[in-house]
Formats: sequence, C-alpha cells, structure tokens
Amino acid sequence: MKNVTLNIDFTEYSSLEEMDSQDQEVVKAAIEAQKGSYAPYSTFNVGAAVRLEDGTIVKGANQENAAYPSGLCAERTAMFAAGATYPGVPMTTLAIVGGFDFSLAETPCTPCGGCRQVMAEYQTAGKRPLSVIMYGTKKTWKFGKVDDILPFIFDSFNEK
Ligand code: THU
Repeated sequence: MKNVTLNIDFTEYSSLEEMDSQDQEVVKAAIEAQKGSYAPYSTFNVGAAVRLEDGTIVKGANQENAAYPSGLCAERTAMFAAGATYPGVPMTTLAIVGGFDFSLAETPCTPCGGCRQVMAEYQTAGKRPLSVIMYGTKKTWKFGKVDDILPFIFDSFNEK
C-alpha cells in the first residue's frame, strides 16, 4: 500500500493583459458570447468560446428551458457548435466567463462536471491538449489540459 499525491499546475492571472494575445482573444470572445445567454430561470449568464487549431473561434452561451434538463451549459453549446460546424478540427483552448444578470464574476467561472467530460471527449478526439481558461475580473485561471480539471478521465479508448 502507498499514498499517492496528485499535483496540478495552473496559471493565475490578475488581469487580462497578463495573458498572451491569443488567449486574450478567446476570453474576449467568451465575454462577447455571454450576450447570447438565455437564462431567465437562474439569471446566471455564462459565455464560452473555443479556439480551434486553425484559429477559428466558436462561441456559445447557456440556454435554459422551462423544463430544466432541456437546457444546456455555455461550454457544451460552444463545443457542440464547433464540433458540428468544423468536424474533425481539433479544439485547442476553451474560455469560460459568467456572472448573474449579465455581470462578470470576480472569481473564475468553473465548469460543471458534465462539461468537463465533453471537453475530455474533444481533447481525446483532437489528439492534442485542450487548455481551459476560467475567467474572473479579479483572477483568471488557465489549465494546460483537461486532465488537470478532470483527473483520471474516462474515455472509450481506455477500453480498447
Ligand atoms: N452553467 C453553464 O453554462 N456552465 C457551467 O459549467 C455551469 C452552469 C449554466 C447552466 C445554467 O443555465 C446556469 O449556468 C445556472 O446553473
């Protein structure tokens, strides 16, 4: 028997200007995407943007429904739109922003477990790391790959 420790390295930024220009661009796209949020029930508005390997940026925002489970998170809206519109093009960076009543929260907007699993799928399919940026006005976190926010990923390739 032995105890094992898992370490996660990530970067914390205190302003957007500290990030490289490509990352700034995807965060700004996520902020823009938040305008498309439809969240009359939770009033929590989330925007997401995913950069593809060819530089294309695809936006998404959370879409709610009176029948709650029929809604979808911003991250999955963006990733599914990217997957459907640009099939086979690897996703390289995903940025997430959020806040109540179309505000931007001070702390990083962290993705739900379901969205992390979808990120894992596209990372595996794209055969390259998908970095994840969680934006907050006071601090922003960047993780280099989905494994850092979803350790011990399940993917079907593990079964082969
Ligand atoms: N939401 C997202 O869009 N992304 C997440 O990762 C977590 C939650 C949305 C779903 C719902 O519309 C609202 O935020 C409140 O849960």
